[in-house]
Amino acid sequence: MTQPLRIALAGLGTVGAGVIRLLETNGALIAARAGRRIEVVAVSARNRSKDRGVDCTRFAWDDDMTALASRDDVDVVVELVGGSDGPALALARKTLSGGKHLVTANKAMIAHHGMELAALADSHGLALKFEAAVAGGIPVLKGLGEGAAANKIERLYGILNGTCNYILTQMESTGADFGGVLKEAQALGYAEADPTFDVEGVDAAHKLAILAALAFGTEVDFGSVDISGISRIRAADIAQADALGHVIRLVGMAEEQLEGGERRLFQRVQPVLVAKSHPLAAVDGPTNAVVAEGNFVGRLLFQGRGAGDGPTASAVVADLIDIARGNNTAPFSLPVGMLEAVAPADPGHRRVRAYMRFTVADRPGVLAEITAAMRDAGVSIESMIQHGRPEDDSLEPVLVAIVSHEGPESAITAALALLEGSPSLAEPPLVMPLLG
Ligand SMILES: NC(=O)c1ccc[n+]([C@@H]2O[C@H](COP(=O)([O-])OP(=O)(O)OC[C@H]3O[C@@H](n4cnc5c(N)ncnc54)[C@H](OP(=O)(O)O)[C@@H]3O)[C@@H](O)[C@H]2O)c1
Repeated sequence: MTQPLRIALAGLGTVGAGVIRLLETNGALIAARAGRRIEVVAVSARNRSKDRGVDCTRFAWDDDMTALASRDDVDVVVELVGGSDGPALALARKTLSGGKHLVTANKAMIAHHGMELAALADSHGLALKFEAAVAGGIPVLKGLGEGAAANKIERLYGILNGTCNYILTQMESTGADFGGVLKEAQALGYAEADPTFDVEGVDAAHKLAILAALAFGTEVDFGSVDISGISRIRAADIAQADALGHVIRLVGMAEEQLEGGERRLFQRVQPVLVAKSHPLAAVDGPTNAVVAEGNFVGRLLFQGRGAGDGPTASAVVADLIDIARGNNTAPFSLPVGMLEAVAPADPGHRRVRAYMRFTVADRPGVLAEITAAMRDAGVSIESMIQHGRPEDDSLEPVLVAIVSHEGPESAITAALALLEGSPSLAEPPLVMPLLG
């Protein structure tokens, strides 16, 4: 057998320790499939004496993780620290400019600096791989970049954040409100102590920007992802969606649009009402799923565990096996110079059916005001439901939910603009498109 592939691990947390465990448990199988052994040579983390459930004493230790990039006995650096900038980015830059391959699970870093790092990898003829950064254990980057490489991808969308999906499905099954379910998710370890990145959609947006670049052959453009999260969803919205035959999911969607003959890219993360008959509606708990529509293959569905030590380590080691085999495909499936800079699409052209929830003062004339705004903006109403006011508090605002017929999104935006600042509304309306 040829020389082993020698790796250095920066970060020995959930994923780092998982990678060591996986290489230990399946070492012989991995060596057979890769054609050579994959050996951990050196490691780095903050605290050398921490018990990580795996024996790290047999590896060389570097207190300064960027030193891993200069070691002569290492072929690949695996960055499992996290953070878009700071030490992770310093290590990534040093690794690639110093002539070593880089594997990372860091979606924030790839979403923000993926173009720079891919250019570095390209110019040095090195591998930059990040399968674990998108949807954890699901081999979706490989699936799109290799298995579906012959297709023009027309649209992709999916459930890209397990924390949000867990919270939404718990709200669905218990009838509880967002705040209570979030606390429970934190206690169970499904949500971070600071859940902002997850529940406000930023984490899903990082993954969407990476997926979109790979699927559409465009430059990574995280800054153009239109992002809204799930923190404003109430139990009443879930109940209303249920009555309409839908569930609510946080969905990231990317699609190419042609505007005046020019290619444009639509990228958005937002809560969506998904028809119960749609495959995404059955994606429960912390599971992730990605749907991609190719012009020859049709609809592909990738589904599985999007986080956790085992699934994420599985994706990291798959990247290492690729490098061991000499499979050095371009990080975004095309050479960096061929990735197109595409301007963001105008979402107003999209045709949508939308659920709009208004929180309104319970007094005469409010419904007429809302429906007049819809009429004046050209939004055709399919159904409207007013939730009864709680009997014990006549001052409490009430919820009004409207579902529109399909029409241009610009009409909905115009209707909401007409209502903006109206004293009848207790808070800005919540708008969710319907899918399926
Ligand atoms: N966890 C998942 O399910 C999952 C899924 C997909 C992708 N990811 C990505 O994988 C990466 C790692 O996630 P994780 O969950 O494994 O994180 P984690 O459990 O918090 O582990 C982070 C590791 O990095 C080390 N570290 C932090 N700052 C450091 C520094 N300045 N110098 C050296 N080491 C430092 C920590 O050292 P100490 O242990 O000594 O504190 C720890 O070992 C992140 O980019 C994350 O987004 C995670």
